[in-house]
Amino acid sequence: MHYSKIAGVGHYVPERVVTNDDLSKLMDTNNEWIIERTGIKERRFIDPKTDTVANMSAKAAHMALERANLKVEDIDFIVLATITPDYFFPGSGVLLQRELGLESIGALDIRNACSGFIYALSTADQFIKTGMYKNILVIGAEIQSTALDLTTRGRGTAVIFGDGAGAVILQPSDQPGILSSHLHSDGRYAEELYVKDPGSSRPHEERQPEQILDTSTFKVHMNGNMVFKHAIVRFHEVIMEALEANNLTKDDIDLLIPHQANLRISNYIQQKLGLADEKVYNNIMRYGNTTAGSIPIAMSEAWGEGKIKDGDLICVAAFGSGFTWASSLIKW
Ligand SMILES: CC(C)(COP(=O)(O)OP(=O)(O)OC[C@H]1O[C@@H](n2cnc3c(N)ncnc32)[C@H](O)[C@@H]1OP(=O)(O)O)[C@@H](O)C(=O)NCCC(=O)NCCS
Repeated sequence: MHYSKIAGVGHYVPERVVTNDDLSKLMDTNNEWIIERTGIKERRFIDPKTDTVANMSAKAAHMALERANLKVEDIDFIVLATITPDYFFPGSGVLLQRELGLESIGALDIRNACSGFIYALSTADQFIKTGMYKNILVIGAEIQSTALDLTTRGRGTAVIFGDGAGAVILQPSDQPGILSSHLHSDGRYAEELYVKDPGSSRPHEERQPEQILDTSTFKVHMNGNMVFKHAIVRFHEVIMEALEANNLTKDDIDLLIPHQANLRISNYIQQKLGLADEKVYNNIMRYGNTTAGSIPIAMSEAWGEGKIKDGDLICVAAFGSGFTWASSLIKW
């Protein structure tokens, strides 16, 4: 049995910067409200002429490959986490495989929203540990901007989300890399944060585009208060679960990278764990909440800034739609 380690990490965000002032021209909101409630100053929105989930993922993958000193042809499996695929089906994993020019390797899509990247990392970890694959490309990528209601009706949700992609390459190792992952869900809360359509469980006549009078069912719906209350409990719980599973304490963490849901949530978790500022990485100020993209984008930036060093203990944790929540402890 092998261990698995992260050999390279990369990211890509669309060029178009959307500030809080830009949003306040579309809806009744303002910079102060958004910063106070979420910590977000700006986010990136795609240009639909140039960006797709697949090509943003490919750009993130190239950066991760370069940092790992690997070539595209070295990738032997793809696990891609997104809830905003380019098509309703097939998944964006196969589109990424095509985009990278890889022939016939397997591509698996994971649909676990904000926890999606950790679910994807854990899935890839199992394939490496059993010896099935040698270089797995693990992606978290999201285009939320086209599913947002950018009017005053949707302001409680629209100001939070952004677009982007992050990638890691997972490889076998003699030394422990991913120590453990902890995956959870509670489907009782599925409708507290969801996009209803294009859902399949409809009478045929209701699924015809011309019959869909209420197109708001294609937009993100979120009960912000409910999400917040569950998030602060589950984040802490799942981080402690990971530490206890490895006989470690919060003092052993060199860097916590929480899913970038909301700066207030990250700050609450930091406070509850008693971690110093330099032990928690946040970039939500610049990118908003990029769902499955948020952890690998943050990981890539933290690595690029020299905040992740060989031998460091990195904790990643997420909570989001499903509800799902998850954590991993990674020895870099
Ligand atoms: C969404 C969120 C920022 C809203 O903050 P909140 O403090 O709960 O605010 P509320 O929804 O109670 O709204 C407070 C007021 O602000 C208003 N408001 C909502 N969005 C607004 C916006 N963008 N701009 C200005 N005012 C806004 C509301 O209409 C409400 O007005 P009222 O008091 O007159 O009714 C907060 O609930 C949150 O961050 N939740 C977690 C969401 C999250 O992390 N999601 C991702 C999970 S992965």
